[in-house]
Amino acid sequence: MSAHPDIIDALKARGFLPADAEPRLEPLSGGVSSDVFRLETVNGPVCVKRALAKLRVDADWRAPVERSHVEAEWLRAARPLVGAAVPEVLLELEAANLFVMSFYAPETHRIWKAELAAGRTDPVFASRVGALIAKVHAGCAGSQALAGRFATTALFEDLRLAPFLRHAAVVHPELAPRLVALADRTAATRITLVHGDVSPKNILHGPEGPVLLDAECAWYGDPAFDLAFCSAHLLLKTVWRPAFAADFLRDAAAVRDAYLAGVDWEPAAEVDARAAQLTAAILLARVDGKSPADYLQTLEDRGFVRETAKRLIAGDMSSMPVLLAAWNEGLATR
Ligand SMILES: Nc1ncnc2c1ncn2[C@@H]1O[C@H](COP(=O)(O)OP(=O)(O)O)[C@@H](O)[C@H]1O
Ligand SMILES: [Mg+2]
Repeated sequence: MSAHPDIIDALKARGFLPADAEPRLEPLSGGVSSDVFRLETVNGPVCVKRALAKLRVDADWRAPVERSHVEAEWLRAARPLVGAAVPEVLLELEAANLFVMSFYAPETHRIWKAELAAGRTDPVFASRVGALIAKVHAGCAGSQALAGRFATTALFEDLRLAPFLRHAAVVHPELAPRLVALADRTAATRITLVHGDVSPKNILHGPEGPVLLDAECAWYGDPAFDLAFCSAHLLLKTVWRPAFAADFLRDAAAVRDAYLAGVDWEPAAEVDARAAQLTAAILLARVDGKSPADYLQTLEDRGFVRETAKRLIAGDMSSMPVLLAAWNEGLATR
């Protein structure tokens, strides 16, 4: 007997499951903002994702459940561009904030964050992550239709710019003019379809390459945000797992190089510069924003990230290589 008869009944009502089926919904762990299940069907396993009204984080942080539809729409836009590198939407029950997508077996699709934590890094895989993000950005750039379908700046403001950049600006008044200007500029940019949560915990390491999940923050805006968000995650991992710091820096460079090679909608140097400024700000936000990185546990680690990020923000980073080199220098003097 399933623990979620409402979901099973809704899937039966839509004809997705036969009326007499008695399938099991197996919860998948790892999500903080949704219920995610593996569901066995006669055609094999599928994945069911339902948005929660309250995120499972310490702060009382609510996010509108309509983000479920935003994610399904992002998947529909990205799938024709990158194929199985993103799940296929099989069914959406918009009123229930739920959709069904193709399932990637965890035995063959490990979460990239876990791979990184174990020191299993691979610059070729990292390059493919960069190329994947660029392919979605390039395929969606300059589309009036997508800009209209993803007019989600308010959601992006609530889930990204306010809790990260604007919150860090309140904690660091001396940097507030820069951080607020950066948030304002980002919010006003309309270039292409942004994923909004390109984190190693949302990327599966599969035999065919990376699979990108979890596009609840999707927004038609500044593509530099995706490169920056992913880069900040990789840089924080140099503090979390110092033994692999050089590998993570190499991976970050590989993501950036492959990403920039796919930029065809504007001069690559411009995205690179915006990404560097955003990366510095996001790094600070991961210690002094509303969503601190849970794996930075010691005062020393947080202090290092804070002080280094503050230097990077004040130093006006002109490109990702400049930022990566500055971070590396900081690590060397720890
Ligand atoms: N299509 C899928 N196939 C297999 N596993 C998935 C799929 N979608 C999500 N998962 C698993 O569920 C976890 C949480 O999913 P995610 O979309 O990131 O939800 P959340 O928004 O809660 O973070 C992922 O880390 C992954 O382990
Ligand atoms: Mg996730």
